[in-house]
Amino acid sequence: MRHAALPALLAIATALPAVASDDVYVVAGRHTLDAAFARLDDATPWADSLGTPLAVARLDAEGVATLVRHVHEVERRCGGFFAFASRPEAEAFLAGERARDAVDAPHGFTYTIDNAATVEAWLPQVDAGHIRDTIATLSAWRNRWYLSSYGAAAASWIRDDWLARAGDRDDVEAELFNDCDDCGVQPSVILTVRGAELPDEIIVVGGHLDSINGLQSNNPEQVAPGADDDASGIATIGEIIRVALADGWRPRRTVKFMGYAAEEVGLRGSRAIASRFAADGANVVGVLQLDMTNYKAGTAYDMQLISDRSSSALNTFLGELFDTYLAPGGLTRTSVACNYGCSDHASWTAAGFPAAMMFEAGEPREFPGDLGAFPYIHSTQDTLANMGDSAGNSVKFARLGLAFIGELAKTAQAAPGDILFVDGFEGG
Ligand code: BES
Ligand code: ZN
Repeated sequence: MRHAALPALLAIATALPAVASDDVYVVAGRHTLDAAFARLDDATPWADSLGTPLAVARLDAEGVATLVRHVHEVERRCGGFFAFASRPEAEAFLAGERARDAVDAPHGFTYTIDNAATVEAWLPQVDAGHIRDTIATLSAWRNRWYLSSYGAAAASWIRDDWLARAGDRDDVEAELFNDCDDCGVQPSVILTVRGAELPDEIIVVGGHLDSINGLQSNNPEQVAPGADDDASGIATIGEIIRVALADGWRPRRTVKFMGYAAEEVGLRGSRAIASRFAADGANVVGVLQLDMTNYKAGTAYDMQLISDRSSSALNTFLGELFDTYLAPGGLTRTSVACNYGCSDHASWTAAGFPAAMMFEAGEPREFPGDLGAFPYIHSTQDTLANMGDSAGNSVKFARLGLAFIGELAKTAQAAPGDILFVDGFEGG
């Protein structure tokens, strides 16, 4: 009997994530929660280390959907939340968060721009067709929701696709990161290119691989193509991998490309990874978040730097990268605030690591602070067709991402197999 019952129990256990009605504890902006629900069961005046007034609220799936809709439709901005399985986990997160360190602190790195030989050779190789095809493939899944089989299959596909782009190299490995209690059936994807000279110094380029339909967000069969949000970011990262690794580039520092699970339900995959890195004492030099790279309408700028919950030093550096490598081609940039927890960079910031996000500029701004947001976000209309069936805008972000890894990870001088003594090594 025991043997016969085991498969049945396992079947129940694996089916459990499909029961999406479990309540979650969200950490979000206090004013937003107050306005969305008119009543909060948490009187504690939480604030993070940056002084942002926060609250913890217990919400069911409908409540989460209400919160997101309130932010986007009533407040006409984005600005999200971290989700937790229990109140103690939410409160432990607040007690341990280190956003102030991430934003202000010098991290011991000097961000320099002196690797033009590598970067300039890459820039013309970025191919809009490659990015377009990847967006088409990813948005052809019915959804990439964290509790659906499509969401799990898409993660495996991304792992295989990234690994294939890297070619047959023994300094590259791919993994499905499953150490996340509340990521449903969806793993995060990590492709690691081991640094040839400073392997313990880590550069991260990431975006979320999941998608959601805001109107049927509890349905495993929901239609959520998520072409811009965020197949575009994942496809941009794929192209960065292809261009950088196709020509045999070997970085001095380690570069990790990440596709995060379950961002749309409270930054869960990225939080699991960033908190693991913090617990392990990882030495993260810089994190670039690419979430929505392909929409541009009218006379908008080409990109906007997300000004809040990001490292001031890394923001300065990203601006300089833009001015060095993209502005000469006529591109323009601005900056805008994204508000509490709007994307995965916030997970790295909360864990104390320097992170930044460059975002599409969308449509020309109508009011100060307007994100120029993509009108089809979280809907069945988030399609390639609604972005002119082209990935032209993502090309700019792939170039920025290449500049980011080329200048942060630098190019190794030594040939494979050389013995290196790297203490104090300042080549590059
Ligand atoms: N890609 C969006 C964030 C975004 C949207 C940035 C529009 C800039 C403009 C992200 O996937 C998202 O939907 N975030 C939510 C919060 C999340 C925790 C559910 C948001 O900002 O409302
Ligand atoms: Zn997104």
